[in-house]
Amino acid sequence: MHASSKTKEYLATKNRSPNFSNKTLVVHMQFKDQSVIITGASSGIGRATALEFGRRGAKVIVSDIQEKAGEETAGAIKANGGQAIFIKTDVSNDKEVQALVSQCIDHYGRLDNMINNAGVGEGFQFFEAITDDQWHKTIAINQTGVFYCMRAALKVMREQKSGNIINTASAAGTGSAPRMGAYAASKHAVVGMTKTAAVEYGKYGIRVNAICPTVIETPMGDSYLSDNEEIAAMMQNSVPMKRFGKAEEVAKTICWLCGSDASYLNGVALPVDGGFTA
Ligand SMILES: NC(=O)c1ccc[n+]([C@@H]2O[C@H](COP(=O)([O-])OP(=O)(O)OC[C@H]3O[C@@H](n4cnc5c(N)ncnc54)[C@H](O)[C@@H]3O)[C@@H](O)[C@H]2O)c1
Repeated sequence: MHASSKTKEYLATKNRSPNFSNKTLVVHMQFKDQSVIITGASSGIGRATALEFGRRGAKVIVSDIQEKAGEETAGAIKANGGQAIFIKTDVSNDKEVQALVSQCIDHYGRLDNMINNAGVGEGFQFFEAITDDQWHKTIAINQTGVFYCMRAALKVMREQKSGNIINTASAAGTGSAPRMGAYAASKHAVVGMTKTAAVEYGKYGIRVNAICPTVIETPMGDSYLSDNEEIAAMMQNSVPMKRFGKAEEVAKTICWLCGSDASYLNGVALPVDGGFTA
């Protein structure tokens, strides 16, 4: 099959070799003309998701509190022929979140996909040992941060009458998470906000979904396991697929959820866990 004139134009402007199949090109261009903000994109799942959106032609905003690593993520997308900028944002600060969304509109004209992924785990302790600081920090970032990001994105998307929001929850957002009480509380809230916004905003052409991973190999995932090899082996064995997930696998699931192949999915809390919660 011959490349269309639009394809040729794209290849010419991007100076890319036509040495890939049409199918690859479709995946490359899946999010052409769409923008995406990814919070927590300096590391782990967020970084992998930013790179994946970049590969698929999106105009990416890499956002995080870690500046150097965020610039590096944006640089990697650009080095691969994609478009990206880094905007430093603490999601627990509403003014910074509003500025993030405004800057997306200034740069790219619209906000098509908002990936609310920034999150923290605050160590392991039984309920009675959770300190006020641990509780408030976890809720401020994992729960209130997602709320601020959803609120700012929904205002823009309602005007646009289109948009996708993906919130990174967790298996700890649908079931128990022993010795992670604050984390479980924050992630259950994320699932609740996801479902509620999905019902409120579906009529505006906006889909709101959550993903619920178990252990994924990232700095956060590794921190759960590094202290105790025995627990790590036991947890890995409890996953039906007998391995932990990779950030790239979560990234591809997020892109699929934002894409037209998932056009009738709204309000789901999708496990990405090798069958762990099945
Ligand atoms: N890795 C896992 O096993 C796992 C499992 C389930 C859910 N999750 C969730 O996935 C998401 C990503 O986690 P990850 O595993 O990639 O961890 P990670 O630690 O590799 O990345 C988290 C990123 O969030 C950023 N961040 C932290 N506080 C922030 C703030 N206030 N504002 C903006 N950015 C901030 C960090 O700088 C970091 O870059 C989190 O919401 C986490 O709860 C992770």
